Amino acid sequence: MNKNVTIFDHPLILHKLSILRNKKTSSKDFRALVSEIAMLMCYEATRDLPLEDVEIETPICKTTVKHLAGKKLAVVPILRAGLGMVDGILSLVPSARVGHIGLYRNEETLKPVEYYCKLPKDISDRDVFVVDPMLATGGSAIDAVGQIKLRNPKSIRFLCLIAAPEGIEAFTKAHPDVDLYCAALDEKLNENGYIIPGLGDAGDRIFGTK
Ligand code: PRP
Ligand code: URA
Repeated sequence: MNKNVTIFDHPLILHKLSILRNKKTSSKDFRALVSEIAMLMCYEATRDLPLEDVEIETPICKTTVKHLAGKKLAVVPILRAGLGMVDGILSLVPSARVGHIGLYRNEETLKPVEYYCKLPKDISDRDVFVVDPMLATGGSAIDAVGQIKLRNPKSIRFLCLIAAPEGIEAFTKAHPDVDLYCAALDEKLNENGYIIPGLGDAGDRIFGTK
């Protein structure tokens, strides 16, 4: 596996994924699980954020402590389904800014169609976490990261819940400089571009639109 790709094997993440995949799981539970898994992934994906020393005074004495250096993160969900991952990340990094990229897959060509892009003004000073539960053909993720790169952020990471091998291959080829974090690597895509076994249509399951 490419060194830029992390596939999680934490028991809590695997357990929560097993409930998420079940077609009997309600939208309410699905939403909560997407958020919880995103939070657990964020904990790991922030492991190497730079720290700096600062002087503070405890009630007892002066001391030097570590805190995050520079401006914090920007989280950029790919609409719609990426929205489900934002709260989990903000619960750990509450000062993060949030941008939005609107993309949907054309159901026949499977190519991404862009309809919205609003990113934080100071994104060039920030580390960016792009989030979307599904990396299927990789087209949406590749396009979103390409749009963000035009604004020169400090770094970009992509976090997804379920990836197909086809998506990982396409994404790492298009953006070899971007770290990719996946809660699970599934088997393959079906003839309609859905991940097998996957979890179905993430947007529809989060928002109850089907
Ligand atoms: C889903 C998913 C990704 C995309 C992945 O969104 O949330 O954005 O498909 O597929 P890809 O890797 O082949 O591009 P969808 O297009 O269904 O849009 P929606 O979130 O608005 O429902
Ligand atoms: N988008 C989804 O929501 N699910 C898939 O399996 C593939 C793309």
